[in-house]
Amino acid sequence: MAPKKGATFTCSACGAAYTKWAGKCDACGAWNSIVEEAPLGAGPKPTSKGRTIPLTDLATEEAPPPRASSGIGELDRVLGGGLVPASAILVGGDPGIGKSTLLLQAAASFARRGLKCMYISGEEAAAQVRMRAQRLGLTESPVILGTDTNLRDILTTLDAERPGLAIIDSIQTMWLDNVESAPGSVSQVRASAHELVSFAKRRGVAVVIVGHVTKEGAIAGPRVLEHMVDTVLYFEGERGHQFRILRAVKNRFGPADEIGVFEMTGDGLAEVLNPSALFLSDRESASPGSAVFAGIEGTRPVLTEIQALVAPSNLGTPRRTVVGLDSGRLSTILAVLEARCGIPFTGLDVFLNVAGGMRVSEPAADLAVAAALLSAREDVAIPPDMVLFGEISLSGALRPVGQTENRLKEAAKLGFSQAVLPSRSKAGQSEGMRLRQMPDLTAFVGDMFGAG
Ligand code: TYD
Ligand code: MG
Repeated sequence: MAPKKGATFTCSACGAAYTKWAGKCDACGAWNSIVEEAPLGAGPKPTSKGRTIPLTDLATEEAPPPRASSGIGELDRVLGGGLVPASAILVGGDPGIGKSTLLLQAAASFARRGLKCMYISGEEAAAQVRMRAQRLGLTESPVILGTDTNLRDILTTLDAERPGLAIIDSIQTMWLDNVESAPGSVSQVRASAHELVSFAKRRGVAVVIVGHVTKEGAIAGPRVLEHMVDTVLYFEGERGHQFRILRAVKNRFGPADEIGVFEMTGDGLAEVLNPSALFLSDRESASPGSAVFAGIEGTRPVLTEIQALVAPSNLGTPRRTVVGLDSGRLSTILAVLEARCGIPFTGLDVFLNVAGGMRVSEPAADLAVAAALLSAREDVAIPPDMVLFGEISLSGALRPVGQTENRLKEAAKLGFSQAVLPSRSKAGQSEGMRLRQMPDLTAFVGDMFGAG
């Protein structure tokens, strides 16, 4: 909408203009999104007419950017094949998940391979960082350590030192003297990150910005920075589980959705080279309610166990509890089972869980979810050597999903010998796997559980 004359307040979500502040935007309904802005055309008059900028075509002779490898395979892959010089990378994650540990280890690996690395901590004293380095066995590595929170001083130091990689841990502790608000506030975090990103581009220094995910609004979380940086990585993990997943959610230099899997040990993070084996490691053999999903995370197949529990409910509205999957997806699958296959879950509590604390977002998991639900409801175990994958449409049909061959290959490698998949899948060669291709959910129910 055209800004009203004299309007100085704008909704940061939809751009609607207001003459005074309000808690809620009438145009789009967003709360707390209205911010004060200088009206368009305000400010000093331009002094010159502006110059024409140089223009080129899309053809390029330039080689792809040279990448620095850390030697930590899981990290390099998530970065898209190594660290790109002059790139800005945001690493987000819950406090205590292991971001500082990961980045200190990464800095040490890069440094050992000849890249000049600086680790700037605004959270811990030098002695604390050194203690962690000692625990990780990294005291001998040539990482340059700095502890400060004044970003102006840090930038001046970086400019003098010109490292290949600078790690800023964390952005919420940094402050700029020309911004009048506390460290951690949205404006400080944004301004600091902006300075860092433009420094990275201007001086050719790769910058890693650490950002804590925050539950409260007072401290700005990493989300407000996602659009500024080239690469956004989130470090995730479940409390009580040892393994951690580094996930690329945005990457200008590589595939998004790539994951790296690590295990937190007594002396730092260790790479997990075969995540499927880890996620399936403590699977009980052939119990009802368990189905193995052959999934794809980024460019790599990963097998996970989907567990369901179905029990009579004494509540008016039975429970639907989901961990590691989208709850909307569960509702859809339950509705399809009822409407297309005549299998109702009314009066039953349903609990669904992805084992090991993994999170699955692929629609390809639908079939394994349905199988786990049916297996729990009918109290019939699914054969322990079976994997499943396929998307369920609202009509109850099974839709083929991508990378069928990779999924089957991974399953065969881990000792599985049969797979249930949609009819029209391009299965190709799959040695040692018995394929059971199903057109729809009804056929699957009939095949596995009798008529249902
Ligand atoms: P940390 O890297 O400080 O987390 P973040 O920077 O994301 O806040 O990791 C802290 C946790 O990791 C802490 O609970 C202790 C644990 N840890 C280990 O289990 N092993 C180790 O070798 C190290 C250094 C930490
Ligand atoms: Mg930390």
